Amino acid sequence: MSRDCQVVALTGATGRIGAHLLALLLSRAFRVQAISRNPPLAGLPEERVRWIRAELSLGWPEDADAPCLLSAGPLAELAEGFRRRPPQGLSRLIALSSTSIRFKQSSTDPREREQAERLLAAEQSLAATCRAIGAHLTLLRPTLIYGTASEPRLGPLIAFARITRILPLPWPAQGLRQPVHAEDLAALMLALLEHPREGIFEVGGGERLSVAEMIERMVRAETGSPLLAVPMPARWIESIFPRWRGPLSRLGQDQLPRPEPELEALGWRPRPFLGAR
Ligand SMILES: NC(=O)c1ccc[n+]([C@@H]2O[C@H](COP(=O)([O-])OP(=O)(O)OC[C@H]3O[C@@H](n4cnc5c(N)ncnc54)[C@H](OP(=O)(O)O)[C@@H]3O)[C@@H](O)[C@H]2O)c1
Repeated sequence: MSRDCQVVALTGATGRIGAHLLALLLSRAFRVQAISRNPPLAGLPEERVRWIRAELSLGWPEDADAPCLLSAGPLAELAEGFRRRPPQGLSRLIALSSTSIRFKQSSTDPREREQAERLLAAEQSLAATCRAIGAHLTLLRPTLIYGTASEPRLGPLIAFARITRILPLPWPAQGLRQPVHAEDLAALMLALLEHPREGIFEVGGGERLSVAEMIERMVRAETGSPLLAVPMPARWIESIFPRWRGPLSRLGQDQLPRPEPELEALGWRPRPFLGAR
């Protein structure tokens, strides 16, 4: 264990990546200051986890004083909170951002462009605060994250396939993706805690596959075989689900993370894409 990070603050501790991180930290004898708005009522070893109830955007919680912080919650709220009341004595921050910054900056959907701009502004604001307080910053930009819970974005497709045993697959959808499992991402954050690397890194999982293949595997993992996959023009799907306009417009584009030799050197080997969990 890294000597200066024996006590770790963790935001988003009840989230998809945060819950894995909390389990990993506890399996490795770290002490944790877990931060969220709605802490769980029971079930964690009190001597190792101190739960801090806080709304991140209001300022860094005054009773969180760990020298190292893993951010697995919302980045914009963290950046706003850091701006209002920066943490005292923080030496290292490892935070989750997203490759949306790159892939959604020229989206056809203005809400997605806004989301990408907001995230980029949050990264820049956090970097400025970290410089001002002398903390090292590692920003991870994962691609699509899966695992733990069923995939909310595919909810309507999954429901339809469950009832009809038919899977309408948007077509064409040959763009490549590299989804990363939430637990692998948590393991990477832990590895970075022990072997610090400063900078911004894009992160994907252990397999590249087409969007069509990815959707098919995700829906099959939720509903079980057999399903009849029926290709359907993406513009038909958009007319049924207009809020999917942005993602549907990118089905033909590759959205792959850049290779990051510094992360590979850590020995981190994410799993191949298995489906939903
Ligand atoms: N989902 C993806 O495919 C994807 C892809 C790339 C990057 N990311 C990034 O990964 C990170 C984690 O994503 P996620 O979906 O697991 O979690 P999330 O929805 O961003 O956050 C959930 C966690 O953060 C806490 N939280 C939420 N708002 C809060 C606030 N205002 N103040 C304090 N705590 C708050 C929640 O607990 P309470 O409700 O109890 O507060 C929960 O523990 C995010 O930064 C996201 O941008 C996600």
